[in-house]
Amino acid sequence: MGLTQLLPVPQTGVTLDEAFAFSAEETVRAVFIAAVDGAASLLGRAGGLANSWDRQLFSLNRALADVILVGAGTARTEGYGPAEDDPQWRHLRQGRSATASLAVVSHGLGFDFDSPLFTEAPEDARTIIVTSAQAPKRAREQAAEVAEVIVAGELTVDLPAVIRALRERGHSRIVCEGGPRLFTDLLRADQVDEVCLTRSPTLVAGYETGILSGAEFATPLDLDLERAYATDDSYLYLLYRRV
Ligand SMILES: NC(=O)c1ccc[n+]([C@@H]2O[C@H](COP(=O)([O-])OP(=O)(O)OC[C@H]3O[C@@H](n4cnc5c(N)ncnc54)[C@H](OP(=O)(O)O)[C@@H]3O)[C@@H](O)[C@H]2O)c1
Repeated sequence: MGLTQLLPVPQTGVTLDEAFAFSAEETVRAVFIAAVDGAASLLGRAGGLANSWDRQLFSLNRALADVILVGAGTARTEGYGPAEDDPQWRHLRQGRSATASLAVVSHGLGFDFDSPLFTEAPEDARTIIVTSAQAPKRAREQAAEVAEVIVAGELTVDLPAVIRALRERGHSRIVCEGGPRLFTDLLRADQVDEVCLTRSPTLVAGYETGILSGAEFATPLDLDLERAYATDDSYLYLLYRRV
C-alpha cells in the first residue's frame, strides 16, 4: 500500500520515492517531524513522534542526499553515528558513496572524537565538522585528525559560505535534519529551498522544542505547499517550497 496523494492532484498508491524525489539539482531541503501542537520532540527525541512511514521517509531523504547537514545539538541528543546503508534505497545511490557524509555544525566543538560518528564513518563518506575560525584551536586540531573540517566565518559560522563549500565538494543535494537552532539560522541566512515536514497526529503540550528556536523573524517567511500525502494512521507528509 502506498501513500494517498492530496496535492498536487488526488491520487492513491504513490510511493515515497516518487513523492519526495528532488525536483532541482541544487537544493537545500530541511526535514522535520512535528506534532499537531508544534512539539518537535517527545521525551527529548524526535523519533518518539514518528511512525514507520516517517522512518522510511527519513531514510529516503538520507539516501537522496549528497550530504546530511545537522546541528551539533541534534547530533549529541539523538546520538548520531554515520548514516546507514538502507537496502530499500540502495538503487538511489548508484555512482555515489553507499551513504552520505554527515556535516555537523558546531562552534564549541564539544565532541567525543572517539565516538562512532568519527571512527565508523566510511573513508568515502567521512564526517565533516563545520565550524568558525574562533572555534577552540585544540578541538579543531583533534577534529582534523578524525574528520574533514570546513572553517567558514570568523566569529560565527557563515552559513552561506558553508553551503558554497559543500557545493564545491560536489554536494548539490543538501538535506538538513535540523535541529531548531540550525534550521532557524539557515532560514535567516536565506539558505533553505524546501521544507519536508511530517505532521504526527499527536498532541504533546509542555514541550520546549519546536522546529524553530530564538527570536521571531522580522517578517514571517512564506512557504508554498507543493505536495501533500497522508497515510491511514492520520499522519501527513508535506513538502513546502520557500516562496
Ligand atoms: N522534530 C524533528 O524533526 C527534530 C529534528 C532535529 C532535532 N530535533 C530536536 O531538537 C533538539 C535539539 O535542538 P537544538 O536547538 O540543540 O538543535 P541544533 O540546532 O541541532 O543544535 C544546536 C547546536 O548546534 C550547533 N549549531 C547550530 N546552529 C549553529 C550555527 N548557526 N553556528 C554554530 N553552531 C551551530 C551549536 O553547537 P555547539 O554547542 O557545539 O557550538 C548549537 O549549540 C533535540 O531535542 C532534538 O531531538 C527535532
